[in-house]
Amino acid sequence: MQHILDKIEALKNEIREAAIQNQEDLEKYRIRFLGTKGLVKELMGEMKNVSSELKKDFGLKMNEFKVFAETKYNEFKDSTTESNDQTSSVDFSLPSYPAELGARHPIQLTMNKMISIFEKIGFSVAEGPEIEDDWHNFNALNLPENHPARDMQDTFYISKEPDWLLRTHTSSVQVRAMKEGKLPIRQIFPGRVYRNETISARAHCFFHQIEGLYIDEHVSFADLKQTLYHFVKEMFGGDVQVRFRPSYFPFTEPSAEMDVSCFICDSKGCNVCKNIGWVEILGCGMVHPNVLTNCGIDPEKYNGFAFGMGVERTTMMQYGIKDIRILSENDVRFLAQFKGVI
Ligand code: PHE
Repeated sequence: MQHILDKIEALKNEIREAAIQNQEDLEKYRIRFLGTKGLVKELMGEMKNVSSELKKDFGLKMNEFKVFAETKYNEFKDSTTESNDQTSSVDFSLPSYPAELGARHPIQLTMNKMISIFEKIGFSVAEGPEIEDDWHNFNALNLPENHPARDMQDTFYISKEPDWLLRTHTSSVQVRAMKEGKLPIRQIFPGRVYRNETISARAHCFFHQIEGLYIDEHVSFADLKQTLYHFVKEMFGGDVQVRFRPSYFPFTEPSAEMDVSCFICDSKGCNVCKNIGWVEILGCGMVHPNVLTNCGIDPEKYNGFAFGMGVERTTMMQYGIKDIRILSENDVRFLAQFKGVI
């Protein structure tokens, strides 16, 4: 009987190592081991040659072998039908489920609206790198090292030598546009910016801006005001009130900030306008002569205005979003609400 037991062991090893890759292999396996003339049947037939005192033991071993061969067969069957096999029951030639159309991100929707308002009055769009050097982000903008106003924008520094940082505003792209030297310049600069701020419902360590720059001969503060009045009317509607407040930026002189009347509460006071009825939406001013000089433009001949605004706050006001963090969490339940909005 020993030689039959050895044979069973050898066959088990063969089964363990069998490489069944497709239906054809599987069928061959079935015929060889489990078919009517297969090895299991054949070995069972040996029973009659075994002496009666060994029959019970032999029967057990044989049965175990049969179960082993069958279990393996089922495993092989499962794994070959799961794969991309032409004889499997799944019809891979059927058309797939219709691909769902995504939605534009609310930040992009707001940016697109802002951009198109400025494009209609002659501004073109320019973009620049998010990783900047100190000169483009600060020095050129009249913010030399150790200038206290650098504290207005907490910066993520990447390395000291060379001095890489994450841009804190898209004014760095204004510098690039001026350095290029093609005048006049009438451009807007949309993009993502980074500041090392504590993340909360109202603030994030990255957000989006649209800045603007107009450089020509004889540009006046009145031009700046008219451009921004026009923008606000188009963006928020004709009923919205505007006010300018004097402010300070190292790269503009004079500088101002612009508020719009809170259209969430009709200026009655709510948590968006912090109960004052006005919401600050942008900073602006006449480009400082030092900035023009730093960028190779003659301040005796040319001057201009610049402005910069955040996109998040306006987006939140427009869509009634209370927490800025949801804008970057990629939650499809939130994003799917903007399907079809253009
Ligand atoms: N760069 C300023 C900021 O990010 C905004 C600004 C741009 C202000 C241009 C004045 C002129 O805060």
